[in-house]
Amino acid sequence: MIIDGKKIADTIKQEIRAKVDSLVSSGQRPPHLAAILVGHDGGSETYVAHKIRACEQCGFISTLLRFESDVEESELLSAIHKLNNDDGVDGFIVQLPLPRHINEQKVIEAIDYRKDVDGFHPINVGRMSIGLPCFRSATPAGIMMLLERYEIETNGKRCVVLGRSNIVGKPVATLLMQKGYPGNATVTVCHSATKDLKDICREADIIIAALGSPKFVTADMVKDGAVVIDVGTTRVKDETRKSGFKLTGDVDYDNVAPKCSYITPVPGGVGPMTIVSLMNNTLLAATHAIY
Ligand code: GUN
Repeated sequence: MIIDGKKIADTIKQEIRAKVDSLVSSGQRPPHLAAILVGHDGGSETYVAHKIRACEQCGFISTLLRFESDVEESELLSAIHKLNNDDGVDGFIVQLPLPRHINEQKVIEAIDYRKDVDGFHPINVGRMSIGLPCFRSATPAGIMMLLERYEIETNGKRCVVLGRSNIVGKPVATLLMQKGYPGNATVTVCHSATKDLKDICREADIIIAALGSPKFVTADMVKDGAVVIDVGTTRVKDETRKSGFKLTGDVDYDNVAPKCSYITPVPGGVGPMTIVSLMNNTLLAATHAIY
């Protein structure tokens, strides 16, 4: 079965919209998300444009703050400081990656954790890892929502996460091992130093591929009936397309899909859910549901 991330995301956006409408009719202002975008990286431009469009669909206010790629770190930090202190903004994100001369960690830690709707601040990461209420980073939270909406069993399942990034691999492993549903899985995290990776994958009931290597997961690595969640979104050159590229996942979809009980496509799987999780976090920030 193909997991339709776009359809689930559209449904959740409608649910958010209904909550926003009722907030507004009770006299509150709509939730407000701000985004900081540095430079003109094609991927980042697209992601931010999608986030702003999703805000419109959910009835949120959105603000885009743009900086050129030679912006000084201090200027960025001062913009963050302003947003932290702006009562008219409920949450904000700084789109990553940032140019090399800017210390990404310093930027993340400058964000007030109560407005950190990306869930990247160490307070949110730490609270998530011990199971406390927090902003959960968008892609892992989106994957959890997909598992939940499709009622995919995770209890006692062997789950293999490919990739150990701070924004996907580590947090998704944390959430899958947590007590409750979706969770209670036995999680193995594989990375560039993992030995016998193919054998480990073949044992998996659930594979989460988040390493950013196009078509890395091949059919011989997947057992019959496995659930495969593809987080990859690499732009691979494709002259036949107007854009000049094709968004390619970490899974060799055509050959892997026939073996799976569930699989996410790229695009239209995890991607739309990431954006909807950010919307959900913004609504939680606006209603002070967490902090
Ligand atoms: N770059 C890649 N994914 C993300 C994300 O979820 N949030 C931000 N801010 N930057 C990203």
